[in-house]
Amino acid sequence: MDNRLFFPATKRNKSSIEDVLLKVIKKNCSILEIGSGSGEHGVAFQKRFPEIVWQTSDPNLLHRKSIISWIDHEELNKKMPQPLELDVEKVPWKIPMNLKHSLQGIVSINMIHVAKWNCTKELFKQSGKLLEEGQFVMLYGPFKIRNEHTSRSNYLFDNSLKMQNDFWGIRDLEEVTIEAKKNSFFQEDIISMPANNFSIIYRKVS
Ligand SMILES: C[S@@+](CC[C@H](N)C(=O)[O-])C[C@H]1O[C@@H](n2cnc3c(N)ncnc32)[C@H](O)[C@@H]1O
Repeated sequence: MDNRLFFPATKRNKSSIEDVLLKVIKKNCSILEIGSGSGEHGVAFQKRFPEIVWQTSDPNLLHRKSIISWIDHEELNKKMPQPLELDVEKVPWKIPMNLKHSLQGIVSINMIHVAKWNCTKELFKQSGKLLEEGQFVMLYGPFKIRNEHTSRSNYLFDNSLKMQNDFWGIRDLEEVTIEAKKNSFFQEDIISMPANNFSIIYRKVS
């Protein structure tokens, strides 16, 4: 059965995110993606970086079914593992041993503003436990900078998120970075992306 979902934003932003990943991904490793959604990013990145293993995950069953369908559709079954059922708040994360050993980085795209603030905290706490010195966490999405929105469209988007769920909302980059630092990640790079988004690279230090 074809359970593929199609997320318009994902189609638009995948190539600019690939350009950022190109700078941080090394060969022969695995990347864990948190909140993979439809799976469109996962299959695109697996095809763009054939020398690595892209491990998708999502707590939402419909999203995991979509990811499975995208993997089938793109004939990536031999290369890509099935999505993990992973909710960042359900700790400790259940990570297969082979993934733990080959893991080089954790990527989460457009997740932290549609989840509770505690999800950001746990994302860094668990990443700090899984990753070694020199490995990275990459976040992509809209952020407030010094607690200010970077555009009117982000301000309106933030309001619409809060109307959907009191616990959602665009996060302030400084506050996110405080959580990163608590878990030994320093902010290595901030890259401005199309449509008032940012990619943030955090690198683990000893
Ligand atoms: C806006 S979608 C983005 C999906 C995908 N990363 C993309 O950019 O197309 C947010 C995703 O975060 C996932 N998510 C929400 N809460 C989560 C949590 N507590 N742990 C992990 N993922 C979560 C949702 O299921 C959803 O797939």
